[in-house]
Amino acid sequence: AAESNKYEAAKEEILSQTVCTRCEVSQWDSDEPVSRADLLKGIQGAHGLLCLLSDKIDAEVLEAAGPNLKVISTLSVGFDHLAIDEIKKRGIRVGYTPDVLTDATAELTVALLLATARRLPEGVEEVKNGGWSSWKPLWLCGYGLSGSTVGVIGLGRIGMAIAQRLMPFGVKRLLYSGRTAKPHAAEVNGEFVPLDTLVSESDFIVVSCSLTPETQGMCDKSFFSKMKPTAVFINTSRGAVVNQEHLYEALSSGQIAAAGLDVTTPEPLPTNHQLLTLKNCVVLPHIGSATYSTRGVMSALAVQNLLGGLQGTDMPSELTL
Ligand code: GLV
Ligand code: GLV
Repeated sequence: AAESNKYEAAKEEILSQTVCTRCEVSQWDSDEPVSRADLLKGIQGAHGLLCLLSDKIDAEVLEAAGPNLKVISTLSVGFDHLAIDEIKKRGIRVGYTPDVLTDATAELTVALLLATARRLPEGVEEVKNGGWSSWKPLWLCGYGLSGSTVGVIGLGRIGMAIAQRLMPFGVKRLLYSGRTAKPHAAEVNGEFVPLDTLVSESDFIVVSCSLTPETQGMCDKSFFSKMKPTAVFINTSRGAVVNQEHLYEALSSGQIAAAGLDVTTPEPLPTNHQLLTLKNCVVLPHIGSATYSTRGVMSALAVQNLLGGLQGTDMPSELTL
């Protein structure tokens, strides 16, 4: 109830009250992303920008904005679409939306993991296309979480929420890797291990780290070659963490069992992409935080961040640059 109240409040706030009475608003009036040309034109002279993760905010955009620009507020927890060095150099503040989307993203990750491991999309398809001829002992068999080892790459807010949701399925060992060991890992009996150990010992690998120069292309040929042939790979962070060519080879050759991806490169993934020809690859269209209430609360937070930045006051979720 508290969440849906926040959602209602958010809607009011966004639909003009706060923003439109305090500043002049120029809004891209479509659900489709703003074109580069319109962004470069529309941002001229602006003091603030509210953007999406599909908007690449680089030096060219910042130059087009000019010296007025004080704040960038992104409707996302990820900020790899923002050229942070360029932004910092210009003294621009950045707001983002951590925490409020953690639960929704963790739920989606669990749903994708189960759907991939238990082959739900294939099963649904077989029911529709007449492939369901009878009950067969080994037909559409997959892999279960009970008694398994799960490896989470990046035990941050979202990674931790995923681990908390997976443990009640009877997971035996929870491994995690990342830059540093996390004190909060104790809550899920998490074992901090080197990435190689995680990759070779896990039955399920969940990627939940942010995209950085260190993690870009991290899941490559060598990574997949260390996985068990029965292991399932899940990515709900950013597509560029994965080398998709190498993932395709690992999936099509049977080197790994299956993959579930909520993020790809590019997004949208072209409908003729080779990954979409594979039965053991489940691809979702980047919907980790897509619940009505979460998107409402994210929007309210992004607006509050924007207003704080414009007024030179506190932003509820300011990124430390
Ligand atoms: C979604 O991917 C986000 O960064 O919020
Ligand atoms: C990762 O995106 C996190 O929120 O920890």
